[in-house]
Amino acid sequence: MRILVVGGGGREHAIIRKLRENKDVTEIFALPGNGGIARDATCVPISATDIENIVRFAVDEKIDYAVVAPDDPLVLGCVDALSEKGIPCFGPRANAAIIEGSKVFSKNLMKKYGIPTAAYEVFDDAEKALQYLDTAPIPTVIKADGLALGKGAIVAMTLEEAKQAVREIMQDKKFGKSGDQIVIEEFLTGPEVSVLAFTDGKVVKPMVSSMDHKRAGDNDTGLNTGGMGTIAPNPCYTPAMAEECMKTIFLPTIEAMNQEGRTFQGCLYFGLMLTPNGPKVIEYNCRFGDPETQVVLPLLRSDLLTVMQATTNGTLAETPVEFADENACCVIMASKGYPQSYEKGFAITIPEAVADQVYVAGAVLKDGQLLTSGGRVLGVTALGKTLEDAIQASYQAVQTVHFDNAFYRRDIGARALKAQEEK
Ligand code: AMP
Ligand code: GLY
Repeated sequence: MRILVVGGGGREHAIIRKLRENKDVTEIFALPGNGGIARDATCVPISATDIENIVRFAVDEKIDYAVVAPDDPLVLGCVDALSEKGIPCFGPRANAAIIEGSKVFSKNLMKKYGIPTAAYEVFDDAEKALQYLDTAPIPTVIKADGLALGKGAIVAMTLEEAKQAVREIMQDKKFGKSGDQIVIEEFLTGPEVSVLAFTDGKVVKPMVSSMDHKRAGDNDTGLNTGGMGTIAPNPCYTPAMAEECMKTIFLPTIEAMNQEGRTFQGCLYFGLMLTPNGPKVIEYNCRFGDPETQVVLPLLRSDLLTVMQATTNGTLAETPVEFADENACCVIMASKGYPQSYEKGFAITIPEAVADQVYVAGAVLKDGQLLTSGGRVLGVTALGKTLEDAIQASYQAVQTVHFDNAFYRRDIGARALKAQEEK
């Protein structure tokens, strides 16, 4: 089978590695992929948002199955366009990808169908939003309606910060049209859990839970990033909690999307907060998380391509989705300065002994040498019988990977270990 994967980050690298385990897969093309992915797939320089050329490539190359991984092509209708040409795809159509593409849509959906989430108000007028803030409880959370590279949510600890966020999003148009509308929502507290789930629109099969580390610095300090590391499973997410989430959140969400005529097929990402009043949805993503995928897929024991095809064909109920009873940790190695400005072009050395544990996110190949080209450069994943073992093994592997100006958090998994002790 000839497979196409749209995207070019660490998440796509992890997806490609797993797809390669299927003996029927003869070739994988990554559009555009990256210098590290080139080890595992044929990279083609077509941007992940260039739908027209993606479709043309898929038709010309007689692709048997396509995986659309990032949010923007999904929201732009990449799956719709490929499906129209008869190419089966993994991922939701645009009318379902809106669950991530518009916060206003997802909040209204949850309100309409009684799915637990933070209380909120929607505004399309900056003056009204600023007036509302004068009487709103603080801290509060301001969210741009549309996609904003994961930077569209601002947790404001003071009234001034909240007003500043409204002005930047609505008046200065920091995120462009994504900020035409905003959601102002109740500030919630509790541990956060990421749950990625396969769904064919009929049943939901959650993957092993995970925990992201979004801040750049140790002890959750510094700026928000795309994610500096992950562990799985998340010790805060007990079997009882999983059962409650299935009943109150996962199944109701799938049912709500069906009711709206927006059946969701693919991977639905539930960003949850386990609040003192029960689990609530912080956000939905219409795709695999990054860097959650780099800990979740290495633990998957079932064949990824078979499961993906089952979400497309509507046969997920009879398709097993099994995970190893082990732990995983992924430490992201970034360029010094990320998430702000950083230098590029440093040579990366990855010893052969750990090459299969490295998922490359931001690197190019030049004359056979891998060079840094992004803020998040790569992730190093290790498995272990215990969470401690997984953490230790991934840091050991990190020590053998080198590029100038590399920085990484030293405490990935520390919060999870603490939660485990308190249990
Ligand atoms: P989002 O982009 O919606 O995932 O939000 C980014 C981060 O902001 C989340 O991972 C949370 O840590 C935080 N956050 C979002 N919404 C809330 C909320 N209602 N209460 C507290 N923290 C929040
Ligand atoms: N790790 C969070 C995300 O993928 O949006």
